Amino acid sequence: MIVGAAGRVGSSLARSFPEATCLKRGDLDVGDPCTVARFGWSRDDVVLNAAGYTDVDAAQSRAGSAAAWRTNHVGAANLAQAAIRHRFVLLHLSTDYVFSGRTTGAISEDAPVDPLNVYGESKAAGDSEVARTPRHYIVRTSWVVGEGENFVRRMLRLAHAGQRPTIVDDQFGRLTFADDLCAAIRHLVVHRPAFGTYNVTNDGTPATWAAIARKVFIAAGRRDEDVSGRTTREFLAEFPKKAERPLNSVLDLGKARGVGIELHDWEPRLKEYLERELTR
Ligand SMILES: NC(=O)c1ccc[n+]([C@@H]2O[C@H](COP(=O)([O-])OP(=O)(O)OC[C@H]3O[C@@H](n4cnc5c(N)ncnc54)[C@H](OP(=O)(O)O)[C@@H]3O)[C@@H](O)[C@H]2O)c1
Repeated sequence: MIVGAAGRVGSSLARSFPEATCLKRGDLDVGDPCTVARFGWSRDDVVLNAAGYTDVDAAQSRAGSAAAWRTNHVGAANLAQAAIRHRFVLLHLSTDYVFSGRTTGAISEDAPVDPLNVYGESKAAGDSEVARTPRHYIVRTSWVVGEGENFVRRMLRLAHAGQRPTIVDDQFGRLTFADDLCAAIRHLVVHRPAFGTYNVTNDGTPATWAAIARKVFIAAGRRDEDVSGRTTREFLAEFPKKAERPLNSVLDLGKARGVGIELHDWEPRLKEYLERELTR
């Protein structure tokens, strides 16, 4: 079963798992404990939870914060309770934003969580609920590119519109292409390595958002000088209501690799994605 099947990751999962039952928000509101408890779960289910409140900046407001905690913490807790009662396998999507990114080097699955914003706090709380279930996978990913709105598509639009954007140039991470994320999730649910938390992103040399934007601009026929860089500090000084974000979002992939998950380099994947987008 795919929960949150209409979202960006959820719709990629729906394409990758045509055998799954897809539950959109209207079919199952994870934030409602009664709805989740009464749902017709069975022991044989594998439930992929891609439901999430993901507007990182809006989550800083009072209303956004309530919505983020309702879906990301209460929703995960409701599914975790159902997983314990019905003994199904629960695979839950999580994020690099549970970490502050103040450490250097790739972040391992067991690093202590230390979120910088409300979204990250609500996700970390959701992870700890899911971690209590005996049969769970928490899949931590970052910077997903696939269906729907994403950074690469936004940069392509700016490039085609003749814009010269200024992009944050001190947050490091790796893109994750949704098809590769879904293949990794399939690997987990089919091969069933030890339950627990797995980092899953594309592999390769970490880069900043500005460096990625420059690659997109060049593919779109613009010059890399058309993208200027700035620091997160400069960005937050101009937009103080935006959420703080980690400077280091690089997740350690050793555990995933160790159980046989293949993680391709993000750069050739970006090239393929751009070729598809530019010929659409
Ligand atoms: N995209 C990324 O770069 C990224 C990176 C790291 C981790 N993740 C994680 O991946 C997961 C999916 O993210 P996404 O990018 O696919 O987000 P998304 O595009 O915002 O999709 C989330 C989906 O969850 C649904 N939803 C929200 N509240 C719900 C509720 N109470 N009950 C049921 N469904 C609910 C949303 O429905 P509505 O649209 O109707 O609200 C939407 O369809 C999240 O856990 C996120 O933390 C994403």
